[in-house]
Amino acid sequence: MRQYKIVLLPGDGIGPEISEVTRSLLEAISKRHNFHLLFDEQPIGGSAIDLTDSPLPASTLQACKESDAVLLAAIGSPKYDTLPRDKRPESGLLELRAGLNLFANIRPVKAWSSLLNSSTLKTEIINGVDLIVVRELTGGIYFGKPKGRIKTKDGEKAFNTMTYSKSEIDRIADIAFNLAKDRKKKVCSVDKANVLDVSQLWRETVEVKAKEHQEIEVSHLYVDNAAMQLIKDPKNFDVILTGNLFGDILSDEAAMLTGSIGMLPSASLSRSGPGLYEPVHGSAPDIAGLDKANPIAMVLSAAMMLRIGLKQPKAAESLEEAVNKVLNAGFRTSDLMCESCIELGCREMGRELLKAI
Ligand code: IPM
Ligand code: MG
Repeated sequence: MRQYKIVLLPGDGIGPEISEVTRSLLEAISKRHNFHLLFDEQPIGGSAIDLTDSPLPASTLQACKESDAVLLAAIGSPKYDTLPRDKRPESGLLELRAGLNLFANIRPVKAWSSLLNSSTLKTEIINGVDLIVVRELTGGIYFGKPKGRIKTKDGEKAFNTMTYSKSEIDRIADIAFNLAKDRKKKVCSVDKANVLDVSQLWRETVEVKAKEHQEIEVSHLYVDNAAMQLIKDPKNFDVILTGNLFGDILSDEAAMLTGSIGMLPSASLSRSGPGLYEPVHGSAPDIAGLDKANPIAMVLSAAMMLRIGLKQPKAAESLEEAVNKVLNAGFRTSDLMCESCIELGCREMGRELLKAI
C-alpha cells in the first residue's frame, strides 16, 4: 500500500481543534482509497515558543523537509504580541515558508451555492465566482533587506524594503500562466507600477511572459483598483497574479466572496519538495477552545494536499464532495449561520463530514 509522511502542525488557537477534525477525515479517506498516511505532529508558532523558545524549532523544519506534505492549521496569539519580531509565532511561519522555498501560494476562491446568502455581498455579485489568487510568498516586503529600527536625531525610525528580482517575478508568473491555461485563460497581474519601481519591474516581466503565452488574456491592475474590482465584479477574475503583501491583503478580501474566511484553503509550493497546505484564516484566539471554529478551510486545504501533493485526486474529490453535502444539508458553524440552518460546533461538524464521505 502506498504510504505518505504527513507533518501535521496544529499550532495555536483553534489550530488543534480543526487539526483533530481534519486528521480523522484524512484517516477515513485514506482507508477508503487504499493508501496510508503516517502523521508526525510537530510544534510551530506559540505552542513551539512555549516548548522550545523558538517559533520554528530546527526539528520541526527538518521533519517538514523529510515529509511528503505539510499540513498546518494556524499560528498566533495575542499572548506573544510583545515579543521581538523574530521571536513571534508569525516568524515561525515565515521561516518555514523560506526554509521550504515555498514561493508560490495558491489561494482558490469559489462561491459555494449553498453559502450565497451568507456573504455580506449581493448574491448576483458572487454567484459563479471562481478565481485563484497566486501570491508570491518568499520575497517582496516580507523578506526584503534592509529592514529594521534605528534611532535618529529626529527620533526612532523603522523601515522595510520591497524588493523583487526579475527571476523571482518570472517563476511566480510561470505558475499563474500555467494555471490559467487549464482555466478561463485570463491572468490579471496586480501591482502599484504607477508609484513603485519594484512594481515597474514586476509589470515589465509579466509583459514579457504574456508575449510567450499569446493564448492567455493578460491585464494589469493597480492594487487599489484591484481591491475595488474584486468586490465590484469578482466574476471578471480568473487568475490573479501578485506579490507577497498585495496578495496577503487581496486574498483576505477575496475570502469574503465565499461567505467566510473559514472556507478558504491554500497551498504553498516550491519547485520540488513538499508543499505546505493551510487555511487562509488565522488562529482566532477569541474562540479558541470553545468548539466553535469552522474546520472547513483546513479540510479543503487537506483536499488540496491530496490532489497536488499526494496525487490522489479521487480522495481529494470525495473530501470536497463531503463538504458540499454537509453544507447543502444546512449544517453550519457559527461563522456561517443562516436562518433555517443547523448550527454545529467544530467537532460535530467533523462528525457530519465523516458521515458524508
Ligand atoms: C497569511 C497570514 C500570514 C501572512 C501571517 C500569519 C504571517 O496572514 O498567510 O495570509 O501575512 O502571510
Ligand atoms: Mg493573510
